Amino acid sequence: MPSTLRWVADHLEPRSRPPRIRAGGYRGGVTVSSIDRLGRPLTDLRVSVTDRCNFRCRYCMPREVFGPDHAFLGRDELLSFEELHRLVRIAADLGVSKIRVTGGEPLLRRGIEDLVGMFASVDGVDDLALTTNGTALPRLAPALAAAGLDRVTVSLDAMDDAVHRAIADVDVPVTAVLDGIDAALAAGLPVKVNAVVTRGVNEDQIVPLAAFGRERGVTVRFIEFMDVGGTNGWRMDQVVPADEVLAAIAAHWPVEPVPPATPGQVAERYRYADGAGEVGVIASVTRPFCRTCSRARISSIGELFTCLFATTGTDLRGLLRGGASDDEVRDLLAGVWGVRTDRYSEERAEGGGGDGRVEMSYIGG
Ligand code: GTP
Ligand code: 5AD
Ligand code: SF4
Ligand code: SF4
Repeated sequence: MPSTLRWVADHLEPRSRPPRIRAGGYRGGVTVSSIDRLGRPLTDLRVSVTDRCNFRCRYCMPREVFGPDHAFLGRDELLSFEELHRLVRIAADLGVSKIRVTGGEPLLRRGIEDLVGMFASVDGVDDLALTTNGTALPRLAPALAAAGLDRVTVSLDAMDDAVHRAIADVDVPVTAVLDGIDAALAAGLPVKVNAVVTRGVNEDQIVPLAAFGRERGVTVRFIEFMDVGGTNGWRMDQVVPADEVLAAIAAHWPVEPVPPATPGQVAERYRYADGAGEVGVIASVTRPFCRTCSRARISSIGELFTCLFATTGTDLRGLLRGGASDDEVRDLLAGVWGVRTDRYSEERAEGGGGDGRVEMSYIGG
């Protein structure tokens, strides 16, 4: 049976909870289910644990907007570890098996290794990953690995120090990120690298980054610059199409496509013909992948977003703090997912898309 059908069979039929009126303002009375209106199951949850970051990447947290006067969230506003753990447990009960911890920079959240340990202990979570800029990995990688983290993804857009500093807009050398990658590898954590490619900024870094990945046994994924949020001044002519990235790499080292491992996969995978590992592209602008999108996002204050480009989220924190039962929280999650029709990137490709989107550093990547 194809995996999506098997998922439906496993998850829809055996659950016979009666329909309810949802708490938290959601009214639907739909039966518990985590298949959306376009037939996409909820399998991935991306959990943002802070909106802060020690970098100011131009495409994510431009310094003019996220400067000294920017009001970051207060500690009490953030979901506590217990609340986050509870949400992950409830999501796993609905069929989520893949958890990604994001930010901002998630390693800035104090005690993050304890939170990772709590997530790792949840039944049904079989892939626990974390996206980071890498600078805290020399300090934290051993504890994260010991806590049960499966792997890390490190954001790195350049090998050249000056280009890196210009993009991250911070006085931190690129060697700090590279040391973080090495620390993760030394701790036994598999590493992927995410590189956002922007026209006129770092196309000349594509080949050096690919060379680094080949040398270290790290899969580098090149991401098309996206119009997430409303502060990064995105323009279509700044997008370097994935095909151009692949051509630049293949001119040095021939590659061949690798079939997707899972249906909802974001990155298109390629292997080097000479056996030096894999490279990937995330063509979210030129080849949107909404059709198989199985990802929900939780902001650090507990709003549920069903699209990276959403303009509004659903408050779960109020429910958690208001004494709701697990069943009520689960029903809200399933209910919001069940009516989801998001396909922003496809709509953008069709000439649509709108304003008022939340920022990447707020919702997680
Ligand atoms: P792996 O399981 O390691 O392959 O991770 P992933 O495929 O979930 O990718 P990752 O979390 O590293 O995301 C890489 C980048 O892809 C993100 O930082 C985003 O820029 C982009 N991305 C991830 N998910 C989505 C999505 O649902 N929509 C869009 N448009 N872009 C996404
Ligand atoms: N376009 C594409 N990718 C982005 N990221 C952040 N902002 C953007 C954007 N505008 C990626 C970063 C990081 C992850 C959190 O999201 O590279 O890997
Ligand atoms: Fe920080 Fe990552 Fe955003 Fe850069 S992309 S500012 S490292 S959260
Ligand atoms: Fe999913 Fe929205 Fe990204 Fe499309 S644009 S893949 S619906 S998160």
